[in-house]
Amino acid sequence: MNRQEYIDQNKDRFLDELLEILRMPSISADTHYDSDVAKTAVFVYNKLVEAGADNVEICHTEGHPIVYGDKIFDPSLPTILVYGHYDVQPPDPLDLWDSPPFEPVIKKTEEHPEGAIYARGACDDKGQMYMHLKAFEAMIQSNTLTCNVKFMIEGEEEVGSTNLGIFVASHKEKLKADVVLVSDTSMLGNDTPSIDVGLRGLSYVEVEVTGPNRDLHSGVYGGAVANPINVLAKMIADMQDENNHITIPGFYDDVDELSEAERAELAKAPFDLEAYKKDLDINDVLGEKGYSSPERASIRPTLDVNGIWGGYIGEGAKTVLPSKAYAKISMRLVPNQSSEQITALFQNYFENAAPDCVKVKVTPHHGGEAAVTPIDSPEYLAASMAMESTFGKKPIPTRGGGSIPIIALFEKELGIKSVLMGFGLDSDALHSPNEKYGLFNFYKGIETIPYFYEHYAGLKKG
Ligand code: BES
Ligand code: MN
Ligand code: MN
Repeated sequence: MNRQEYIDQNKDRFLDELLEILRMPSISADTHYDSDVAKTAVFVYNKLVEAGADNVEICHTEGHPIVYGDKIFDPSLPTILVYGHYDVQPPDPLDLWDSPPFEPVIKKTEEHPEGAIYARGACDDKGQMYMHLKAFEAMIQSNTLTCNVKFMIEGEEEVGSTNLGIFVASHKEKLKADVVLVSDTSMLGNDTPSIDVGLRGLSYVEVEVTGPNRDLHSGVYGGAVANPINVLAKMIADMQDENNHITIPGFYDDVDELSEAERAELAKAPFDLEAYKKDLDINDVLGEKGYSSPERASIRPTLDVNGIWGGYIGEGAKTVLPSKAYAKISMRLVPNQSSEQITALFQNYFENAAPDCVKVKVTPHHGGEAAVTPIDSPEYLAASMAMESTFGKKPIPTRGGGSIPIIALFEKELGIKSVLMGFGLDSDALHSPNEKYGLFNFYKGIETIPYFYEHYAGLKKG
């Protein structure tokens, strides 16, 4: 049976298997779900075995396990390291989901006329990761595997991949490969294929601002004692000027500024500002002066509050001057900025900017560096040719705004580049309620991946 026939005949089973893994609440951030995360790793293990991988194992770490498997059948052929993650983000806020996050349903929409699967992790990254297992199975079954392959599917991407970093650094020989292939990003549209050639880095901090040593009556003390929430709000507001430029001294020092030619090249990707605003139900956009919305969300660094809390947030009104205020702040970084250095700059700035009436504490969380894939590299060309084979048009190179910190680490530790051949859409609501993944995208991915193997083998042979 040829590969396409095999895929066509097994379509429904592929989907059933994906629905099965989507029912597993593998929320890596929440320890209540540790056993579900572990069960999901076992599921991936079993499916790798069934698909025909060798040396399949569950690699235990200080945190959630990594699933490894490989097929090395001809040492003279290049080896592809497939990376993906089986963990997902917490589904909150639950009341905004139209159907329960771990009970996948398929619905047809205008955007996805063939149907889309609604579930947490549908696109990020179970749906996309699973395409690789099924593409591999189809290549094995049709005898069309053209590269050696190693799978490394982790369970901690959504919490920073700290243990995977340690695993990679200590298993360089085991993971030796020519390229990393990842489907964990988006493309512009189902009829506008694109490939992310860049990802942003990340610096993430939590801040605590302490005013008086206890909560106070806001009438008895209000006006005379610093309110840490007021102070924190002002400190945050001061970190951006009227041009939405970040004011932390040195923040932009190492930013890789793109040339006008590079910006013109990226501006070729279609973007409809009116549709963008309409989709988000906003009257206007906001961002750094001098840059377009796609640029602001990809080639420029940011500073965003992800959460802010303190004081009374229960029902009704409580007149209180709180003792403490908190915020979680993320900074998306671009190539050449160092997350460690930016975290240090932030910490230094925040501590110095705090008025004497409060005490502040800055706690750094996980971070990571930005990554770029050169468009003249064999990995990019192979991905471009693969997508052209199945979409009938050349994909557009784009820069993604999200982060996958392990990508920069692959380059540092293994000395190899990654190619981000993602099949999701930005509208798939990653990390949001009603996350979805189109059936079109799932099957298109399964069909496209083998072409990457073929073209990559061809290009490496020269
Ligand atoms: N798959 C995403 C990253 C992504 C999504 C890149 C869409 C480009 C387009 C990944 O799972 C993710 O969410 N990463 C986190 C970083 C991590 C350290 C929590 C992110 O970008 O917030
Ligand atoms: Mn992801
Ligand atoms: Mn994610």
